[in-house]
Amino acid sequence: MRSLLRVGVPLLLGLAVLAWMATIAVAETTRSWFTRDVELRARLAASGAQEGLASHLAAGEQRKVLKILEGLAQDERIMAAEVCTAAFLTVARTQRIPASFGCEGLEARRHGAGARDLPGELDAELDGGPVHLSVHAIRADGELRGYLVLFQDMSVAARRETAAKHFTIAVFAVVAVLASILTALVRRDSWRTWTQEFRRVLALAPRSPGLPSNGPAAFSPVLQDVRQLVEDLAKERASASGGRWSPERLQQTLRDALHGESVVILGNREPYVHERGADGAVRVLHPASGLVTALEPVMRACSGTWIAHGSGSADRDTVDACDRVRVPPGEESYAIRRVWLSKEEERGYYYGFSNEGLWALCHIAHARPEFRASDWQQYVTVNERFAKAVCDEVKGPDPVILVQDYHFALVPRMIRERLPRATIITFWHIPWPNAERLGICPWRREVLDGLLGSSVVGFHTQQHCNNFVEAVDRYLETRIDRERQSVVQGGRECLVRNYPISIEWPNRWAAAAPPAAECRHAVLAELGLDADALLGVGVDRLDYTKGIEERLLAVERALERFPHLRGRFTFAQLAAPSRTLIPRYAALNDAVEALAARINRRFASGTYRPIVLLRAHHEPPAIFRYLRAADVCYVSSLHDGMNLVAKEFVAARDDERGVLVLSQFTGAARELTEALVVNPYDLEEASAALATALQMPAAEQAERMRAMRAMVSELNVYRWAGRMLADAGRLRQRGRLSDRLSLGLRVVGGGRS
Ligand code: F6P
Repeated sequence: MRSLLRVGVPLLLGLAVLAWMATIAVAETTRSWFTRDVELRARLAASGAQEGLASHLAAGEQRKVLKILEGLAQDERIMAAEVCTAAFLTVARTQRIPASFGCEGLEARRHGAGARDLPGELDAELDGGPVHLSVHAIRADGELRGYLVLFQDMSVAARRETAAKHFTIAVFAVVAVLASILTALVRRDSWRTWTQEFRRVLALAPRSPGLPSNGPAAFSPVLQDVRQLVEDLAKERASASGGRWSPERLQQTLRDALHGESVVILGNREPYVHERGADGAVRVLHPASGLVTALEPVMRACSGTWIAHGSGSADRDTVDACDRVRVPPGEESYAIRRVWLSKEEERGYYYGFSNEGLWALCHIAHARPEFRASDWQQYVTVNERFAKAVCDEVKGPDPVILVQDYHFALVPRMIRERLPRATIITFWHIPWPNAERLGICPWRREVLDGLLGSSVVGFHTQQHCNNFVEAVDRYLETRIDRERQSVVQGGRECLVRNYPISIEWPNRWAAAAPPAAECRHAVLAELGLDADALLGVGVDRLDYTKGIEERLLAVERALERFPHLRGRFTFAQLAAPSRTLIPRYAALNDAVEALAARINRRFASGTYRPIVLLRAHHEPPAIFRYLRAADVCYVSSLHDGMNLVAKEFVAARDDERGVLVLSQFTGAARELTEALVVNPYDLEEASAALATALQMPAAEQAERMRAMRAMVSELNVYRWAGRMLADAGRLRQRGRLSDRLSLGLRVVGGGRS
């Protein structure tokens, strides 16, 4: 309705002016047509009567002249008629002619206007109605004998004029209303058009001459999710606070929504790790973690404190007396507060319950979840330690606290007990399993209850939100408000919403990287490859959920099926060692190494090796160099909440080159729909996608990359954090209003008793 008014009112005003001008034009046209018609009739009548009048005038037969005039006045339009002599004396006249219009009047008129104006026409009024008066000369043998004056009724013309005016106004009114409705509908549907354009891009079949067809579904994204995303964006655009999300807008949201100047983040992994090298020098590392990639720019924008496990070998040497260190080095816009864990605590809480238990439980990647009571005990203890650290760090009774990930499921409830008015936003960075699978965890109720201490619990996808709510419904006594997407427990509401995580945009690492051509040159030289080599890149922690084995097998299958790739296609896998104390991770490390060696043996020729396994921690500048050098980046996760490497690849490619092959089991596949989306288990499909990517025309690469860059720039990490803060702000506002209301009711109730 609002859009109807916004568009309709100016349109209606414009059309009203047009209608006014049109009615004047229509009235004038109607009048001139009618006048011409009247004149024609008068001339016809006059010429018909001419002969008789001339002879009767010559013969002085006044009665016969009158008879002719009465005959003329029978015409429905001729009201009256008069005949004058050439000297303007009345010969005969029908009734109703006023003296001022008779022969005397004509005489006077002739003196005023000149004889040449007779015969002629004139508009006048008779009996209050409009008339047309015409004067016709009566001649015989070329000699002027007199004048015939005809008075014609013009009231019909006036009636037609009014009818034409009304009709024009009515037509314009209908057009105006229809045009307003149509314009509003067009405006509303412009987003639908965008969706269709999206679909068109999605429907771009990978051109792969010589490649076997994988059917229509090959490399296709999840349309339903795209539609949802487009709708969300449409709603945001329609809201008053439009515009792209930026650090400034995030700060503003924090101030407006929560009256906060800074935040406290709790995340197990610290954004800057101080490591002492073999030479004794201390280096600052950026850990390989999607959580850190996303949260660090948010922290720089909002300032405050990040509470984390101090895991670096030089971490203790770099903190102050309060275990704090200011970061980023050189910029120092916020603080890390380090919490120290004993080896036992780390083993039980981090390796045990968090990673052998919850990580395996939440990912569909065929690793058996391990739940041990001793790990659980450590998890509870460490969660207590971190909850206390948070409460020590916050200022005031209603701070804004962002709790991150599966390491801290119990912390929200623990904080809530200490700080009932805190705004606690918890984000679960990994998938949430369905209720049945969650049932494997012996402490599922405690985990669920712990999370419900939050003001907002966020997941990457709606599916994960649904799974969570379904689990709460099954395992806890609560009230679920499906309309508000929230859980009400003990009178307190916890929102459950999806917030797809992202990266900073513009991306500082991409901005700092050398031009793409330079990166390519450097990387090919580093790997000992020819300038025309085809380069594939993968960047991951060495984790079984990332599908690294499936990725290498897809490369092998591509080399088998497409012989032209042999000797030319090299896949460089940057693999950061991770959670190496866990047997499953140690086994993965060995398996990946053995697999790479086997494929290399099989396809090696001269110095050519198809797989380059770079098993080490890589700092962001090196990672971005590889991403910018690649022809194809393959993200093959078997299950992944989001996967930010996919988005970093898009951020890295400001040259609009390179193709992303992306697992359908990542959250990112719901947004990056112009990637070649594959099932990583299907080696036929994945190998065909790799071959397709390697021979994709530059124009198509650019088209796909442009669309993905537009998407990530819009859905950046500031939007992710901003939307959560805004939702939490609204919830806080609602809580305050209902507190005031119940206080008011108590006062009223107290007065009565
Ligand atoms: O979101 C990505 C993520 O998997 C986090 O859940 C996890 O904390 C991080 O990356 C890396 O894992 P870790 O901290 O165990 O090295």
